[in-house]
Amino acid sequence: MPSALTTRAIEAYKAQFGESPSIIVRAPGRVNLIGEHTDYNDGFVLPMAIEREVVIALKPRSDGYVVVYSSDYDQVTQFSPTELLRIDDPTEIWAEYMKGVTWSLSDANDPLVGWDGAIAGDVPIGAGLSSSAAIELATARAFSAAANFHWDGRVMARLCQRAENEWIGVKTGIMDQMISATGKAGHAVLIDCRSLELRPVPLPEGTVIAIMDTATRRELVTSAYNERRAQCEAAAAHFGVPALRDVDIRTFEAREHELSPVIRRRARHVITENDRTLQAAEAMTAGDAVRLGKLMNASHVSMRDDFEITNSALNTMVSLALEQPGCYGARMTGGGFGGCAVALVAQEHASGFIENMTSLYKAATSLTPSIFVTNATEGASIIT
Ligand code: GLA
Repeated sequence: MPSALTTRAIEAYKAQFGESPSIIVRAPGRVNLIGEHTDYNDGFVLPMAIEREVVIALKPRSDGYVVVYSSDYDQVTQFSPTELLRIDDPTEIWAEYMKGVTWSLSDANDPLVGWDGAIAGDVPIGAGLSSSAAIELATARAFSAAANFHWDGRVMARLCQRAENEWIGVKTGIMDQMISATGKAGHAVLIDCRSLELRPVPLPEGTVIAIMDTATRRELVTSAYNERRAQCEAAAAHFGVPALRDVDIRTFEAREHELSPVIRRRARHVITENDRTLQAAEAMTAGDAVRLGKLMNASHVSMRDDFEITNSALNTMVSLALEQPGCYGARMTGGGFGGCAVALVAQEHASGFIENMTSLYKAATSLTPSIFVTNATEGASIIT
């Protein structure tokens, strides 16, 4: 049985092109359990691919053109690897992600074949769940399926990151693209963002992952993100190392007085977060939900006080979550400044958790949250 989203993509394709698609591909969004803003510091992250994704129904064309209908935006875009025009229009950003990937793949000499396609997604946009990486990886998967070229998740993740960095202009790390490309069902994946080594770790038995969208989004996220990145690079330069990954906690504590207060807080977050992330992977391997929860809580405090990327909605959501029965831990997730928090919850408390949190958060903020439980899924794949 195709999912509702797959059916929507297929129906959109038929309505647009008057025939059936021959290939269907998908790529997931993600939630990061711990390891925030560590990826561009060559550190460690522990995300999982979620049951929210982007699906493309397509059929190869012979003239090299890509013609795509977006069922979410009700827009059509058309381009070819040799005719790529950047359009600075935020209402057509979905098309820019697709063009960026086309540019990046063709620049890497992947043999591209054009296609007609219909794209549909259910990853909330701008919520810190990587809707953009899902579009990028689904596009790469579509090209790989259309031309039948070899799919290597790591290589594709790098090419999609390049699209985001150079075509879109956001200096993001590798986490989102890597997990969308290589996610593993039932597991989070510990990613070493320097070597790109992957270690799948199972979710603790009897627990579920709840995603809690605060319904807040912040403008100017890109500049705040790039500013954090520059501050981390300044700290690494001070220590004379390529990246903050290379500074351990003891070295930091011995020399932190040399740094300005802001740079010191930023570095402390990244250095302690790397350590927490490695510990979290150990806790998961041992099936220790209590320890994992505590590490998530400490991560939130570090993002709130040292990295300063939470907002009051996220702080409220996390505090409320920690008061609920069966909640092991909670933290904001993703780039920050709005969007989602994530909680580790005992399975038997999951439905009560969603119910309580929805009404408590609404009462506290007058905002209507969206709270749902998700399994961990596989990375980008061909459905048929
Ligand atoms: C965004 C970026 C990632 C990562 C996170 C923060 O999602 O795309 O590369 O830096 O923020 O952990």
